[in-house]
Amino acid sequence: MPKADVSETFQLGAMNHVGVAVPDIDIAIAFYRDVLGAIDITEPEVLAPQGVKYAFVNLPTGQVELIEPYGETSPILKFLERNPKGGQHHVCFEVQDIHVAKSVMETRGMRVLGEPRIGAHGTLVVFLHPADAGGVLIELMETH
Ligand code: CO
Repeated sequence: MPKADVSETFQLGAMNHVGVAVPDIDIAIAFYRDVLGAIDITEPEVLAPQGVKYAFVNLPTGQVELIEPYGETSPILKFLERNPKGGQHHVCFEVQDIHVAKSVMETRGMRVLGEPRIGAHGTLVVFLHPADAGGVLIELMETH
Protein backbone atom coordinates (compact mmCIF):
# COMPACT_ATOMS: atom_id res chain seq x y z
CA MET A 1 0.00 0.00 0.00
CA PRO A 2 1.42 3.43 -0.83
CA LYS A 3 2.40 5.54 2.14
CA ALA A 4 0.13 8.56 2.68
CA ASP A 5 1.72 11.85 1.71
CA VAL A 6 2.00 13.65 5.05
CA SER A 7 2.54 16.90 3.19
CA GLU A 8 -1.11 16.91 2.12
CA THR A 9 -2.47 16.69 5.65
CA PHE A 10 0.07 18.80 7.52
CA GLN A 11 -1.48 21.67 9.45
CA LEU A 12 0.05 24.44 11.48
CA GLY A 13 -1.37 24.59 15.00
CA ALA A 14 -1.89 27.44 17.45
CA MET A 15 0.57 30.22 18.02
CA ASN A 16 2.23 29.26 21.30
CA HIS A 17 4.59 32.09 22.13
CA VAL A 18 6.68 34.99 20.94
CA GLY A 19 10.36 34.80 21.90
CA VAL A 20 11.92 38.04 23.07
CA ALA A 21 15.69 38.25 23.55
CA VAL A 22 16.74 40.38 26.51
CA PRO A 23 20.13 41.42 27.87
CA ASP A 24 18.96 41.04 31.49
CA ILE A 25 16.04 38.77 32.34
CA ASP A 26 15.43 40.24 35.79
CA ILE A 27 15.08 43.73 34.34
CA ALA A 28 12.80 42.36 31.62
CA ILE A 29 10.60 40.55 34.17
CA ALA A 30 10.33 43.74 36.23
CA PHE A 31 9.31 45.63 33.09
CA TYR A 32 6.58 43.16 32.12
CA ARG A 33 5.32 43.04 35.74
CA ASP A 34 5.63 46.63 36.93
CA VAL A 35 5.15 48.62 33.72
CA LEU A 36 2.99 46.39 31.50
CA GLY A 37 1.08 44.89 34.42
CA ALA A 38 1.59 41.18 33.69
CA ILE A 39 0.52 39.23 36.76
CA ASP A 40 1.74 35.72 35.91
CA ILE A 41 5.46 35.40 35.15
CA THR A 42 7.45 32.24 35.85
CA GLU A 43 10.75 32.17 37.74
CA PRO A 44 13.78 32.26 35.40
CA GLU A 45 15.27 28.87 34.59
CA VAL A 46 18.35 27.78 32.68
CA LEU A 47 18.25 25.54 29.61
CA ALA A 48 21.99 24.99 29.26
CA PRO A 49 21.99 22.92 26.03
CA GLN A 50 20.19 25.75 24.21
CA GLY A 51 22.32 28.46 25.83
CA VAL A 52 19.40 30.34 27.36
CA LYS A 53 17.96 31.49 30.64
CA TYR A 54 14.22 31.88 30.15
CA ALA A 55 10.99 32.92 31.83
CA PHE A 56 7.41 32.87 30.55
CA VAL A 57 5.01 35.78 30.75
CA ASN A 58 1.70 33.90 30.85
CA LEU A 59 -1.20 35.70 29.21
CA PRO A 60 -4.75 34.55 28.45
CA THR A 61 -3.93 34.11 24.75
CA GLY A 62 -0.39 32.76 24.90
CA GLN A 63 3.04 33.53 26.22
CA VAL A 64 5.97 35.83 25.79
CA GLU A 65 9.17 33.83 26.25
CA LEU A 66 11.91 36.04 27.66
CA ILE A 67 15.34 34.67 26.75
CA GLU A 68 18.68 35.85 28.08
CA PRO A 69 21.94 34.40 26.75
CA TYR A 70 23.48 31.69 28.92
CA GLY A 71 27.11 30.68 28.37
CA GLU A 72 29.79 31.80 25.93
CA THR A 73 28.30 30.01 22.92
CA SER A 74 24.68 31.09 23.35
CA PRO A 75 22.99 31.76 19.99
CA ILE A 76 21.32 34.77 21.63
CA LEU A 77 24.66 36.58 22.03
CA LYS A 78 24.91 37.36 18.31
CA PHE A 79 21.33 38.62 18.25
CA LEU A 80 22.07 40.98 21.14
CA GLU A 81 25.20 42.24 19.39
CA ARG A 82 22.91 43.44 16.60
CA ASN A 83 20.12 44.46 18.99
CA PRO A 84 21.77 45.57 22.23
CA LYS A 85 18.49 46.47 23.93
CA GLY A 86 16.94 43.14 23.00
CA GLY A 87 14.09 42.54 20.61
CA GLN A 88 11.65 40.10 19.10
CA HIS A 89 13.64 36.95 18.39
CA HIS A 90 11.24 34.25 17.19
CA VAL A 91 7.61 33.18 16.84
CA CYS A 92 6.54 29.70 17.94
CA PHE A 93 3.74 27.64 16.43
CA GLU A 94 2.47 24.30 17.64
CA VAL A 95 2.61 21.15 15.52
CA GLN A 96 1.35 17.65 16.31
CA ASP A 97 4.47 15.74 15.32
CA ILE A 98 7.85 17.45 15.10
CA HIS A 99 9.39 14.84 12.81
CA VAL A 100 6.52 15.09 10.35
CA ALA A 101 6.74 18.89 10.51
CA LYS A 102 10.49 18.81 9.85
CA SER A 103 10.10 16.50 6.89
CA VAL A 104 7.21 18.51 5.40
CA MET A 105 9.13 21.78 5.80
CA GLU A 106 12.19 20.26 4.08
CA THR A 107 9.98 18.97 1.27
CA ARG A 108 8.74 22.53 0.86
CA GLY A 109 12.27 23.89 0.54
CA MET A 110 12.69 25.29 4.03
CA ARG A 111 16.03 25.05 5.79
CA VAL A 112 15.42 23.39 9.15
CA LEU A 113 18.11 24.33 11.66
CA GLY A 114 19.39 21.13 13.25
CA GLU A 115 17.57 18.10 14.58
CA PRO A 116 14.51 18.21 16.87
CA ARG A 117 15.62 19.01 20.42
CA ILE A 118 14.01 19.65 23.78
CA GLY A 119 12.88 23.26 24.12
CA ALA A 120 11.95 25.40 27.10
CA HIS A 121 8.50 23.78 27.33
CA GLY A 122 10.03 20.31 27.66
CA THR A 123 8.81 19.16 24.25
CA LEU A 124 10.63 18.76 20.92
CA VAL A 125 11.24 21.87 18.82
CA VAL A 126 12.95 22.84 15.57
CA PHE A 127 13.70 26.24 14.08
CA LEU A 128 13.28 27.34 10.46
CA HIS A 129 15.86 29.57 8.83
CA PRO A 130 14.59 33.17 8.85
CA ALA A 131 15.90 33.76 5.32
CA ASP A 132 13.37 31.17 4.09
CA ALA A 133 10.55 32.55 6.22
CA GLY A 134 10.16 36.22 5.40
CA GLY A 135 12.84 37.27 7.84
CA VAL A 136 11.17 35.65 10.85
CA LEU A 137 12.88 32.93 12.88
CA ILE A 138 10.10 30.37 13.28
CA GLU A 139 10.06 27.78 16.04
CA LEU A 140 7.87 24.71 15.61
CA MET A 141 6.99 22.99 18.86
CA GLU A 142 5.45 19.57 19.31
CA THR A 143 2.36 19.55 21.50
CA HIS A 144 0.06 16.68 22.36
CO1 CO B 1 10.63 29.67 21.95
